[in-house]
Amino acid sequence: MVKFLTLDDVEVKGKVVLVRVDFNSAVDPETKKILEDVRIRAHGETTIKELADKGAKVVVLAHQGRKGDPDFIPLKQHAEILSKILGKPVKYVDDVFGEKAKNAIENLRNGEILVLENVRTYANETKEGTPEEHATTDFVKNLAPLAQLFVNDAFAAAHRAHVSIIGFTAVLPSAAGCIMERELKSLSKVLENPEKPCVFILGGAKADDSLEISKYVLNNKIADYILTGGVVGHVFLAAKDINLGKPNMDFLEKKQLMELVPGIKELMQKYPDKVKTPKDVAVEVNGKRKEVSINELPVNYQIFDIGAKTVEDYATTIRAAKSIVLSGPMGVFENSEFIFGTKRVFEEIAKSKAFSLAGGGHTISALEKLGLSNKISYVSTAGGALIEFLMGKKLPGVVALEKAAARKA
Ligand code: 3PG
Repeated sequence: MVKFLTLDDVEVKGKVVLVRVDFNSAVDPETKKILEDVRIRAHGETTIKELADKGAKVVVLAHQGRKGDPDFIPLKQHAEILSKILGKPVKYVDDVFGEKAKNAIENLRNGEILVLENVRTYANETKEGTPEEHATTDFVKNLAPLAQLFVNDAFAAAHRAHVSIIGFTAVLPSAAGCIMERELKSLSKVLENPEKPCVFILGGAKADDSLEISKYVLNNKIADYILTGGVVGHVFLAAKDINLGKPNMDFLEKKQLMELVPGIKELMQKYPDKVKTPKDVAVEVNGKRKEVSINELPVNYQIFDIGAKTVEDYATTIRAAKSIVLSGPMGVFENSEFIFGTKRVFEEIAKSKAFSLAGGGHTISALEKLGLSNKISYVSTAGGALIEFLMGKKLPGVVALEKAAARKA
């Protein structure tokens, strides 16, 4: 189990607490309006509320988008949304660590909340480095002396060794917030001694990530079965030397996914009974769904879903599972002709009594669309950080919290 301090271990009343959250949200590229408030709500209703209720002077640090991208916007809207969620005023200042920000922090009263400007407006924020290196930046040197505690609640950004994620942990007492704690606890349930059988369902388009996750969870005896779908399923089928037909093989070539084939072959040779691939697929013929068995391949149509035989096969494995990790849809669920595979597999997970964990933008959208989100034991707020965690990587944000706790002990 990870060893870091939590909000239960620290006194916060009257203290200036710097809280790093992940407010990074979907933004309309034209209107620049925030489209959903899942992350703002998650941090707001837990960590930020708890700190404010306990009388801390809460200073919120967060990023939105990447410099140059359409979703790189100020955090003013985020502060307004947070205020609505909490039903109380939330201050905002368009400055990260200059005089305006410092004055606003110094003027905070107990229980008040201040959101600072998008931390990525600071040019050096995204430079990778160690906590000690980051502690020498203007960002940390200006804000740390004003604060008595750093709280990292940004699990979803914990894979970034950025200044605001790890820099303050070198100089301030540091603790994990509620979301950080909840994410790590839920992930530990499936990565450390999961109840068996443990099944990983890997769909979507990120076949490179899925291969790395599969290697880690099979080599470490975490997963008993890997079920593949979506583009991931196609690459795994190609690694069995199955010709999917020109449109599909061209797609895999174009996306450079065929480069993964040697690695997948090696994995499947090592674990022949543990990695499952589709038994049939659904293609589009004149705008309609048509199911094709794997023996009938190649086809000259694009594959957009898994078929009914695959669903039955996967459902049997899911029904026997005691732990389930879900990352990625089984097909193009946005199209009603091809939602079938995703719907049926997700419904089986929803029906299961196993501990189920799901994450990733498309998975969450599909669960929402199908009305199944509340039937999953834990839905992670993270994307990239979750993937890296499932690959067995140590996240810099978490390591920094552990180091800070060890230094204090
Ligand atoms: C995310 O949305 O996955 C995190 O906020 C990290 O964002 P980044 O990939 O721009 O660092």
